[in-house]
Amino acid sequence: MMKLPSRVKLVDVGPRDGLQNEKQPVPAEIKIGLVHRLQDAGLKDIEVTSFVSPKWVPQMADNAQVMAGIERRPDVRYSVLTPNMKGFEAAVLTRPDEISVFGAASQAFSQRNINCSIEESIERFAPVIEAAKAKGIYTRGAISCAVGCPYEGEIAPERVELVARLFRQIGVEHVVVCDTIGTGTPVKVQRAIEAALKYYELDKVSGHYHDTYGQAIGNTLASLEMGVWQYDTSSAGLGGCPYAKGATGNVATEDVVYMLHGMGIETGIDLDKLIDAGKYISDFLQRKPNSRASTAILNKRAG
Ligand code: HMG
Ligand code: MG
Repeated sequence: MMKLPSRVKLVDVGPRDGLQNEKQPVPAEIKIGLVHRLQDAGLKDIEVTSFVSPKWVPQMADNAQVMAGIERRPDVRYSVLTPNMKGFEAAVLTRPDEISVFGAASQAFSQRNINCSIEESIERFAPVIEAAKAKGIYTRGAISCAVGCPYEGEIAPERVELVARLFRQIGVEHVVVCDTIGTGTPVKVQRAIEAALKYYELDKVSGHYHDTYGQAIGNTLASLEMGVWQYDTSSAGLGGCPYAKGATGNVATEDVVYMLHGMGIETGIDLDKLIDAGKYISDFLQRKPNSRASTAILNKRAG
């Protein structure tokens, strides 16, 4: 417990990772409403949308409209996914503060998700990273399937190390270790983080854990113990990846905030307002927030 950070940065990826897999159309105004509520709750980093093929992910086809509709705050960083130059060129018109390329530690997932091998993906990402940096846009690189893959099964830490090295070579500034399908358990996740740390310093490594097997809070705690202080989380636990069948959403932002505040770790987030943001989007989707902390607090409010 030596390295526990005193402050943690959460990137709410709910508007992107959370909503990308929703079958029912979610109008741009609802997505914008979610972003507004998240920033009201104190989130300083929000992953808003992705500039991917609308044939592959129809839910994100309104990317430019959503970006244009946000009332921006100067202290909030708005981030988007860009898999290639076509996506980057469309994204840049909407003035993102940050972009993410997304690769994978598994060849099969890379093929299914972005239609190319790991090596080809790096070739596609290189000009994106160069162009983003030339415009002063911060760059992140996600390593999907860092512990497990829906097609290849368990993934060795060496695979993560390889992608981290390739990201480093093309100048990606920050690496995100992703448990895409939520099969990871704490020690495996720590091994994946260790692999990323071979090429990136601690301040440039984030965790991104889906909660399919209920391990994401444990995986977050295990990463905190290594000093990792940046995480992607999703309000109301929304989400999943369309190319990782059966995988559920990211760990709920509400649950992580509850844990961190209980440990005396600052986030700058107002949990009550965050609960409202998660309730807003869950009401629209006609379901209950997928967060234990949210359920408990909403029950308490009702009682
Ligand atoms: P491709 O078919 O190999 O691309 O797809 P292409 O360059 O051969 O182009 C084919 C067509 O797509 C062309 O259109 C292009 O113009 C168009 P057509 O001539 O047929 O009409 N196209 C695009 N359109 C809009 N935006 C673009 C774009 N690029 C090409 N950027 C591509 C490659 C990456 C585009 C495709 O595979 C794709 O869109 N995949 C979607 C991947 C995705 O969004 N997955 C979910 C997000 S990743 C995730 O959730 C994981 C993460 O959360 C971390 C974790 O949990 O692991 C980040
Ligand atoms: Mg994800």
